[in-house]
Amino acid sequence: MAKMWAGVTAGDTDPAADDFNSSIRFDQRMFRQDITGSIAHAEMLAAKGILSQSDCEALTDGLAGILEDLESGKLKIDGSAEDIHMFVEQVLTERIGDTGKKLHTARSRNDQVALDLRMYLRDESDEIAALIRGILKVLADLAEQHTETIMPGYTHLQRAQPVSFGHYMMAYAMMLLRDLDRLRDCRRRMNISPIGCCALAGTTYDTDRRMEAERLGFDGICLNSMDGVSDRDFAAELLSTLSILMMHLSRLSEELILWASWEFRFISFSNAYTTGSSIMPQKRNADMAELIRGKTGRVYGDLIGLLTTLKGLPLAYNKDMQEDKEGVFDACDTVKMCLGILTPMLATMTVNKENMLHAAQSGFINATDLADWLVKKGMPFRSAYKISGQLVRLCIENGTVLEALPLETYRQYSEFFDEELYQAIDLKTCMEKRISEGGTSVASVEKQIAFVRKELET
Ligand code: ARG
Repeated sequence: MAKMWAGVTAGDTDPAADDFNSSIRFDQRMFRQDITGSIAHAEMLAAKGILSQSDCEALTDGLAGILEDLESGKLKIDGSAEDIHMFVEQVLTERIGDTGKKLHTARSRNDQVALDLRMYLRDESDEIAALIRGILKVLADLAEQHTETIMPGYTHLQRAQPVSFGHYMMAYAMMLLRDLDRLRDCRRRMNISPIGCCALAGTTYDTDRRMEAERLGFDGICLNSMDGVSDRDFAAELLSTLSILMMHLSRLSEELILWASWEFRFISFSNAYTTGSSIMPQKRNADMAELIRGKTGRVYGDLIGLLTTLKGLPLAYNKDMQEDKEGVFDACDTVKMCLGILTPMLATMTVNKENMLHAAQSGFINATDLADWLVKKGMPFRSAYKISGQLVRLCIENGTVLEALPLETYRQYSEFFDEELYQAIDLKTCMEKRISEGGTSVASVEKQIAFVRKELET
């Protein structure tokens, strides 16, 4: 392909340099945004009298034809083109002649590429938001089915206090709801148009940037032309939002991996989402969850990569910025893949209630409730805590549990003990009595579910 800048420079570039310089391998995925942006640009130029109406029609018809042919596969991307912007302009000029050369009036590739990327990532954000809504719905459904399913809650991965599986699922729902909110927030700042900033300083043509922005669905325009072509904070912000989202998905995946192990057996994955071993016939591995946990690292890497690319750049555009795309594309692809697998995997897994209850029955997770019961009878908490601890030690020494100790034994430790204590340390009571707002009681979890469902309606 002849160089668009041939005439200024003499001599050909080394093909290896052309290849090194080219970004079409990865920026071709923005072809829709590029063409849509160009159509709006031609229309604005015509509306302002910078282009004639007939030139505008030739340009927009030509661009629409290119879009159609790329969508249908009739037109193939030329891998030797420098980037998607040059490719589209080149094909346009081949198809409609010299009028095609008028398209690039009052713009530069610097504002064009910033525009395309904002439009592309805006669409990706919407797709990801829809997927987060999908997983939130599954979590709310699961929670609804398990408001009374007792399991041990852990701290330090040691059995701590009984919680419902529904409460557990809602903890993740709250995290993902904040991810959705962050995404919404980030999209708001992203949805500001850089087109018309031109190379860096604006333009001498009497353009209407706001008209063009509005046609492309933006909420406003970048108010400083150098900022508009220089910053990629919207991409860094999306990457940081996606990194936090992946951190949440990774923690949930880690729990699923543990829970699916023989040591826990709290859940079993559907066969659709486990793999076998090539040597050990008994294995059902949680590969999907492990991969989500593993892919979290690459999304973090994408974030750090972009921040590092940007950190030393003087204003305005530098070619380094061509490196802004692959990482953020990779992160969007990765997040969409992970949510696409995790959601149906959660929806189809079996929750083994009996195993959860069984685990809750050992580990003395009602020891806090025993102490609280003494406090309600009038004992100071520290003294009650000590007695409860001594009783736990006694149980451990005798291989028994708090529920099985006879009342006489309890009374040797405190006069406050009576028959009622057994009701108080029953796991169901322990869970049900945690009525504080945000606690694990059925009513509280139902309130949480209602909150998430209401947020999903908006
Ligand atoms: N392919 C380039 C990129 O991705 C487009 C912008 C090129 N602008 C320039 N002045 N060389 O950043």
